[in-house]
Amino acid sequence: MSRLLELLAAPFVSRRGWARKLRWSAGVAALGWWGLARRRPRRSPLAGEVALVTGGSRGLGLLIARELAARGCRVAICARDANELQRAVRSLRDEGLEALAITCDVTDTAQVERVVGEVVEHFGAIDLLVNDAGIIGVAPLDALSRADFDQAMAVNFWGTVNTSLAALRYMRPRRHGRIANVTSIGGKVAVPHLLPYSCAKFAAVGFSEGLRAELAGTGVKVTTVVPGLMRTGGEAHAVFKGKSNLERAWFTVAAETPGLAMSARRAARRIVRAIERGRAEVVVGVPAKVLRLTKEMLPNATLAALAAADRVMPAAPPRR
Ligand SMILES: NC(=O)c1ccc[n+]([C@@H]2O[C@H](COP(=O)([O-])OP(=O)(O)OC[C@H]3O[C@@H](n4cnc5c(N)ncnc54)[C@H](OP(=O)(O)O)[C@@H]3O)[C@@H](O)[C@H]2O)c1
Repeated sequence: MSRLLELLAAPFVSRRGWARKLRWSAGVAALGWWGLARRRPRRSPLAGEVALVTGGSRGLGLLIARELAARGCRVAICARDANELQRAVRSLRDEGLEALAITCDVTDTAQVERVVGEVVEHFGAIDLLVNDAGIIGVAPLDALSRADFDQAMAVNFWGTVNTSLAALRYMRPRRHGRIANVTSIGGKVAVPHLLPYSCAKFAAVGFSEGLRAELAGTGVKVTTVVPGLMRTGGEAHAVFKGKSNLERAWFTVAAETPGLAMSARRAARRIVRAIERGRAEVVVGVPAKVLRLTKEMLPNATLAALAAADRVMPAAPPRR
């Protein structure tokens, strides 16, 4: 062994033969590179884990479910529409991936308890919960009622709380688990015409960050996911009020413009990598990062810019 080491070190110990040293170094580097290139892909720390993705029937949730299944997770997806869930399962199966579909409205605590119980019964555990289910409404304040705020809070905030509390009952005794909460850049910066959505997402951010702090040391890690606009097709399910055609027009343009809205598949990959690493927060997309940073560094100027943007957005039609 020591002879081998001597041989390997010889060209570097000698003061002569720089060309030989260079050739030797290049050879060693090439060998290293070849070794790295041949290395099998790293096994995901999520492989074999049981994951429940709420809102997994379409859009970002389905893409996250696909990423997780591709990394070897045993995946369950839930949403309200049973037909859409079945279509999602079929689309995964077409790619050689499996998922269990369970209908559930995350605003209903009894349904949430049932779905988490079914996941545990089917797979024997729940290791990862991805809270993706969400709704969005686009309207100016004057076209909104208290019910719009209630509805946004019910799904985007209480839905996240309901599923997290239900999953924690199984995760905490095992001192093992991960929760990823898909919030929004709208939960860090209140964008005009998205007020109920922003309120609910701000609340979800607060819940998610506080939960991570309180669960530190319990074996359960919480990741707050803060996406900017993504091309998920979600605008087709948004509710528009006020001058609804104009609201739909600006929102659809923003949600479908590359550069403003990122690829949903790429976003799903980034999110799953952040979950794998147990990161506290992941802000997804360059525009979201810029907006968040600007708000933190220049809060007054940012709010003034948002007020200026509001002035050029469609006003609500006069109430009758
Ligand atoms: N798209 C974006 O640009 C963007 C940006 C920032 C954050 N986000 C967030 O990312 C998440 C996914 O967005 P997306 O664009 O993929 O939306 P999407 O296509 O509309 O999908 C939403 C999913 O949530 C489910 N869902 C809605 N209400 C539910 C409820 N009460 N109970 C159970 N499931 C429910 C929907 O299924 P059912 O309707 O059948 O229940 C669907 O599976 C949301 O939380 C959204 O706020 C999106």
